[in-house]
Formats: sequence, structure tokens, C-alpha cells
Amino acid sequence: TRIMLSGIQPTGIPHLGNYLGALINWAQLQDDASPEGELLSSIVGWHAMTLPQGTHGIENGHNDVHVWIRYEEVFSVYEQTSRLAVSKNLAEDAEMDETGLNVGLFTYPVLMSVDIALQMHVPVGDDQTQHLELCRDLADQFDRTYKAKHSLFPLPIALTSGADYLFFFISKPPKRILSLRDPTSKMSKSSPDPASRILFTDSPSEITSKIHHRSGTANLLTILAACTGEYVHQIAKRFEVKNYGVLKSEVTGAVQEISRGPRDDYERLKGQKDYLLKVAKEGAERAGKKAEATMRGLSCGGLHSGNP
Ligand code: TYM
Repeated sequence: TRIMLSGIQPTGIPHLGNYLGALINWAQLQDDASPEGELLSSIVGWHAMTLPQGTHGIENGHNDVHVWIRYEEVFSVYEQTSRLAVSKNLAEDAEMDETGLNVGLFTYPVLMSVDIALQMHVPVGDDQTQHLELCRDLADQFDRTYKAKHSLFPLPIALTSGADYLFFFISKPPKRILSLRDPTSKMSKSSPDPASRILFTDSPSEITSKIHHRSGTANLLTILAACTGEYVHQIAKRFEVKNYGVLKSEVTGAVQEISRGPRDDYERLKGQKDYLLKVAKEGAERAGKKAEATMRGLSCGGLHSGNP
């Protein structure tokens, strides 16, 4: 079976961009009955070290994200891996770097490539395609350096909007969701303005107020299309003759609807720390076995003997 891998940083409560860009597809892909293979979802603690974070920040962030991913389990049991192995000292070092420019940021794409290199299909939002390209380049470079007879690493394929036609099981093409405050940048957890993003812990009235004070019509159309599964141009046509207020109300309703389930599950699971850790540990063991199998393949076959 095909193995798919994706990841999210433990840097806070996931937002609407994470959901519509990537997580919405995880729910389908992790389904045991999915003919497409098996999804490994990871919480990538090391990746969070590109910005100074308090140790508490990362630990809480891990729980927040994990709880949220567990929501998907209402659909099926799936493999879960946690890579949160951030040592306290390391995290504190990162925090001491006042410029915020640390080696974590510099080596980030390589770290991500290592995750991916041992797996294959990668359901991510389209902001990640550049990282996947680098990963493909590194895999290719490795093959050439070691004069491999055939490709040693499975070349990773991004499952994003561009590629989704290949994967019929993705019913909702991932979208790039932009900031509600500044439509020139993407919605992100790290923006200092909390009104720029919708979190899955937001109440219906918070959602209403964030959308009503937003800027960027195109972004509203994208959000609505991602929620309903329609094409943006269909929606744009539908709203041609309607006024702006109607569009805002419809987007508000769709976002409230889509976030209700995750919010309820978050409330239900957020206190269950032991249970979440157990799931993460078991998942990490399973994922480790799969990565080992790839490593064994690397050392037993494929490589010419001798120095590169
Ligand atoms: P991260 O934690 O930034 O985001 C998690 C997922 O959410 C998507 N995403 C968005 N999609 C649409 N619009 C947005 N505004 C938006 N913001 C975030 C991202 O595309 C991503 O799919 N480098 C990764 C984590 C990672 C990873 C991996 C992913 C580490 N190793 C291996 C796949 C495979 C990241 O920082 O995601």
C-alpha cells in the first residue's frame, strides 16, 4: 500500500488555513477503508524551533494540535506519529536567540526532507510545495552521489490543489487561505494579530466578528468554495447580483458549520493528556518501523559498493 505522510507544527491551535489547506483531507486519507493507502500524521516539534518558543509553548502547542487531530478519529482509527523530541535545553537555546534567526530556520527544509524521504505522498497546503521540491532534489542528488542503480528514496509527491486530479479521493482541493487582515499574506499562526485568523476554538460570535471586519473579497470566495466544495468562479457568479453583506453572512455560516465538530471534539479531548501521549507513542513506534524498512532497503540494495 501507498504510505502518505503529513505534518503540522505544534505552534498553537490550528486555524482555518491549516484545516482547509491540509487537515480536511487527512480525515479522508486516514480512513482505513481508503483504497489510497495509509496516512501518517505527525506533529513536528523540531520544526517549531525556527522561531523562539518557550518550552511551555511547544508542549501546550503539541497538546492543542494533537487533540485537534484526534478529532479526525471519529472517522476511523489511523496511524499517528509524534516527533516531539524537543529537549528543554534546545528549546531554551532557541528562545535565547533574540534576532529570531537561528540555524533551525536555515536547516528547516532539510529537516522536512528527512521526514518525507522515508515516506512518499504528502498531503499539504500549497505553501509547502517549495519544500517538497527541495526534498525531491535532495533525494535525486543522493542517488547521483552514490551512483544508485535505481531511485533509493521514493520521490515525494505533494497532494495539493495542483495534483489533486491525480487523487480522486480528495474531494476538497486544498486552498491557500489568506489573512483576514492582510490579504497579501497567508493566514498564519505566527501573525501577531489574532483577528487575522479563525481558530477552531473560536465561538460562533467570534467567527462572525472576524469575518465582518475582514478585508479581501477574493479570500472570502476562496474560503466559501473550500467549505462547500464549489469552484470559486461558480460562487463568484452566484454573488454577482447580490450585495456584499450576503456574501459575508454566507461565509460566516459556512465557517461556523464546518468548525463545530472540531470545536466540540477539542473541548472533549483537551484534558486527556495521558491518552493523547499514548496514542502519539504508539504511532511513533509504528511510523519508526516503516522508516526502518526503507532504511534497510537502502543499505541492502541499490547502492554500489565503494566510496562515492
Ligand atoms: P504548518 O504547521 O505550517 O501547516 C500545516 C499544514 O497547513 C497548511 N497551511 C495552509 N494551507 C492553506 N492556507 C494557509 N493559510 C495555510 N497555513 C498552513 C500547510 O500547507 C500544511 O500542510 N513544513 C510543514 C510541516 C512538516 C511537514 C513534514 C509536512 C514537517 N515535516 C513532512 C508534510 C510532510 C509546516 O510547517 O506545516
